[in-house]
Amino acid sequence: MSEIAIFGAGGAGRETAWLADHCGMKVACLIDDSRELEGTRINGVPVISLNHFLAISPNVPVLCAIGNPQARERVVGKLLKQGANLNCSLIHPSVLIGSHTEIGRGAIICPHTIITVNVRIGAFAYVNLSCTIGHDVELGDFCTFTPGVHVSGTVRFGRRIFVGTGATFINGTSTKPLSVGDDAVVGAGVCVRRDVRPGTTLLDAAPRSIAGGGADREF
Ligand SMILES: CC(C)(COP(=O)(O)OP(=O)(O)OC[C@H]1O[C@@H](n2cnc3c(N)ncnc32)[C@H](O)[C@@H]1OP(=O)(O)O)[C@@H](O)C(=O)NCCC(=O)NCCS
Repeated sequence: MSEIAIFGAGGAGRETAWLADHCGMKVACLIDDSRELEGTRINGVPVISLNHFLAISPNVPVLCAIGNPQARERVVGKLLKQGANLNCSLIHPSVLIGSHTEIGRGAIICPHTIITVNVRIGAFAYVNLSCTIGHDVELGDFCTFTPGVHVSGTVRFGRRIFVGTGATFINGTSTKPLSVGDDAVVGAGVCVRRDVRPGTTLLDAAPRSIAGGGADREF
């Protein structure tokens, strides 16, 4: 049974601990530097500080389970600097992965996600429950997809992008992939139809109708 530690004792950490257990891994501990959590148990798993962890189990691989992409990148940088072993990822057995698809180290891919062909998932990406990712999608390092995100083919995501629950992306084309810039935030339920500039937050647009085409159409 492989042993791992999980950085983060919040919702993402607790869910990841449950998934790791479900995947047959032994979760040694949750790592969290909050004073009030040190020495407690959460859902039966001991919580210890990073310094304590590195002192007692320096070789146990650590999965970073923090939902916020920027915070996750900062923590991964700190863990690397302190010599932690980050050579592990978690891909639930129910995940379907097509051919010619790469998944970077440190990634967490949650149950019932489907990733089809010619996809690249960056390092330390976090793809939550029941997402679908179509052909020719590139997902940069440290991106977070929350539950039920659906991406049609040929979309390029930069780094550290946060996508809210149930957002959808229409497909790009091979000559013009749909592009989502670094550090963008896509709100829950948004249908993304155009490129998203880096660092912008996209909210669900109010429905609008256009005339013609028979039945009323709403976009
Ligand atoms: C986009 C988002 C990040 C914005 O968060 P925020 O900056 O804190 O914004 P606020 O909640 O203050 O909302 C600002 C305004 O935008 C509206 N808004 C927020 N999210 C929206 C969305 N997804 N679609 C449409 N409108 C939205 C709010 O109603 C509010 O409108 P008002 O000023 O008229 O009241 C957030 O609303 C969101 O969608 N987060 C995703 C949550 C999620 O999926 N979590 C998964 C956890 S596993």
